[in-house]
Amino acid sequence: MPACLVLFALIPVIYSQAPILPRPDGYVYHNGSPEAPIHMEAFIDLACPDCKTAWPILKKLADSYGPNKLRMTFHINPLVYHRQAYYAAMGVRALVAANVSVHDLFNYMDAVFKNQSEFYNKPTLKMSGLQVIQAYAKLAHKAAGISAMKFANALQNSGIDHTTRLSSKLAWERGVTGTPSFFINGIRVIGQSNWTVKQWKKVIDPLLKTKFPRLEL
Ligand SMILES: *[C@@H]1O[C@H](CO)[C@@H](O)[C@H](O)[C@H]1NC(C)=O
Ligand SMILES: *[C@@H]1O[C@H](CO)[C@@H](O)[C@H](O)[C@H]1NC(C)=O
Ligand SMILES: *[C@@H]1O[C@H](CO)[C@@H](O)[C@H](O)[C@H]1NC(C)=O
Repeated sequence: MPACLVLFALIPVIYSQAPILPRPDGYVYHNGSPEAPIHMEAFIDLACPDCKTAWPILKKLADSYGPNKLRMTFHINPLVYHRQAYYAAMGVRALVAANVSVHDLFNYMDAVFKNQSEFYNKPTLKMSGLQVIQAYAKLAHKAAGISAMKFANALQNSGIDHTTRLSSKLAWERGVTGTPSFFINGIRVIGQSNWTVKQWKKVIDPLLKTKFPRLEL
C-alpha cells in the first residue's frame, strides 16, 4: 500500500453535524410564494459593501417577477472580518424574537445598509462592544419601532446569540465563504454583486420558459 494511504488511514475522521434548524432559515421578501417556479436565495452580510450594492437590485428583481414567479429569500451570514456584522445579524434575530412585522424587519435591514459605513472596522475601532450595540439599537428604534433598550438587551442575550449562530452554520454547511452568494432553485450561481436586473433576467427568463412538469401533490 502506498505510504500516503497508510497515513490517511491513521487520521481519525472527526465530523460534527451542524444542528438541523427547527424551521427553514431566512427571510422571504414580499410574500414570495412557496409555489413560485423560481426560488432564489441570497446569503448576505449586512456589513458587507458588495451586499449593499446587491440589496436594492435583488429586491427590484423580485418585484419585477412578482411573488408568484420568484420567491426571494435572504439568509444573514455575517463574515468574521467585518467586525460589527455579527451584532447587525443578531439584530435581525432580535427583531424576529420581538415579533415585529416583516415590513419592519426589512426596514431595519434597509437602515443598516444605509448606515453601513458608520459601522465599518475603522470608524468603530475605538468603540466598545456596548457602544456599537447602542448605535445599532438607535438605528433599529428609528427603522423598526422597537425600544432601543429592548433591542440592546437582546443583543446581549444568549438565546439570540444561539439562533444567530445557527444561521451562520447553515451558510457554512452550504459552502458559502463570501457574500453575497446566490442560489437559484438550490444551485449556486456565480453572479456578481453588481449584476443588474437585466443581467439576472438573462439567467432566469430561460428557466421560466422551460417546460418542466411538476408533480402536484
Ligand atoms: C405576532 O404578531 C402577529 C401579528 O402582528 C400576531 O398575530 C401574533 O399573535 C404575535 N405573536 C406573538 C407571539 O406575540
Ligand atoms: C443613519 O444615517 C442617517 C443619515 O443617512 C443619520 O441621520 C442617522 O443618524 C444614522 N443613524 C445612526 C444610528 O447612526
Ligand atoms: C461590475 O463590476 C465589475 C468589476 O468591478 C465591472 O467590470 C463591471 O462593469 C460592473 N458591472 C456593472 C453592470 O456595473
